[in-house]
Amino acid sequence: MAKTGVSLVITICALIYPVHLLDNGLAQTPTMGWLHWERFLCNVDCVNDPHNCISEQLYMQMADIMVQEGWKEAGYEYVCIDDCWLAQERDAQDRLQPDPTRFPSGIKKLADYVHSKGLKLGIYQDVGNLTCAGYPGSHGYYDLDAETFADWGVDLLKFDGCNFGTLDILVEGYKNMSRALNATGRNILYSCEWPLYLWPFHQPNYTDIRQYCNHWRNYGDVYDSWQSVKSIIDWTAIHQNLIVPVAGPGGWNDPDMLVIGNYGLSWDQQVSQMAMWVIMAAPLLMSNDLRSIDPKSKMLLQNKHLIAISQDPLGRQGYRIGRVNSFDVWERPLSGGRYAFAVLNRQEIGGPRQFPLLLATLPSWKTCHPECRVTQILPSYQDLGVQNLFSTLKLTINPSGTILFTVTLNEGLAAEQKWNWNRNMNKKRKTPNSVF
Ligand code: GLA
Repeated sequence: MAKTGVSLVITICALIYPVHLLDNGLAQTPTMGWLHWERFLCNVDCVNDPHNCISEQLYMQMADIMVQEGWKEAGYEYVCIDDCWLAQERDAQDRLQPDPTRFPSGIKKLADYVHSKGLKLGIYQDVGNLTCAGYPGSHGYYDLDAETFADWGVDLLKFDGCNFGTLDILVEGYKNMSRALNATGRNILYSCEWPLYLWPFHQPNYTDIRQYCNHWRNYGDVYDSWQSVKSIIDWTAIHQNLIVPVAGPGGWNDPDMLVIGNYGLSWDQQVSQMAMWVIMAAPLLMSNDLRSIDPKSKMLLQNKHLIAISQDPLGRQGYRIGRVNSFDVWERPLSGGRYAFAVLNRQEIGGPRQFPLLLATLPSWKTCHPECRVTQILPSYQDLGVQNLFSTLKLTINPSGTILFTVTLNEGLAAEQKWNWNRNMNKKRKTPNSVF
């Protein structure tokens, strides 16, 4: 290619995806793993509750189970420590140190153990003076802390934003830690909460954030309840024009942890959380107890069809295309001209409700011209056969449940034939307006 051609391509790429200053090549697809916070919080009482307290044993057990019980094989890779792992003081050289009674072997040994299982270790720190739970923060020590994490063999840093002081410290702190991680030469995935802490003051600059972080939290902490999960989904839909375009390989919006397998969500609500996190191209960081998880929740979290959608190489985040009669319809474009759709029944009274979906009303209706194959993935796998533009899918959806399905160009059709057909169609008519 001539030089001008190359620079034109580079310019176009830079316009689509801003240059990544965080040069770690990580998170090409949404991160998958386990993170302790929602389920284990700041339980530091290893005397009375040794099985559930924040200690090296907890992460070693989770790592063991992730290998033994098919989690690693399904794609879950990162075992992540959240707040409350630190000692109350830095050491004599100002280096961070873990609580000596709960992490007697130290983080390096723990990282070695996790690596010996073929998994990766995540850790937590804060941009301000103190973490949210009151342990020493990284402010004033970004380089030293990044070097410490790299020396220990840490693979992911969740960087919180509590106690940040001024907005300058918040923004510069997130950027400086990103640079400090880069400078270590170790590839450390950088998980930020920068926009969440900026929102009370002004709208965050997401183009900027994407340059420094591999994912970023936008909204408050997930709780083990449908109310909480629903509020995250709604926030995402309301802000989709701002946040969806910026997501893609290397940088993702993070709606917080999956709470599937805990106490607060009904089966249908667990299905909905999984479906929506997959549609939203969200990091899949479970916070549950893998040692005692219900087999049904485990099957849902390990469902290979869902994980394939989550990890789709096109890396586009889905968006809500409409709301009708208390049904929310979402779509996510996938590689190969495929789409995933989710229809969420928001009504929380009564029984299952019917939603007739005429394929011609979808913005991506062309995929079904002249024919498409429809496959239901959730709540159960079902081949819905070959359909066309005029087909109506008769969906029946439980209260607070979701049906997730994919629409694929029918394999019997040559791509070229479809392209020609679409071209002719485009000449003749406009895309039908969505009913939504
Ligand atoms: C904040 C974060 C949570 C968790 C806690 C730990 O609330 O948003 O995800 O890390 O701090 O204290």
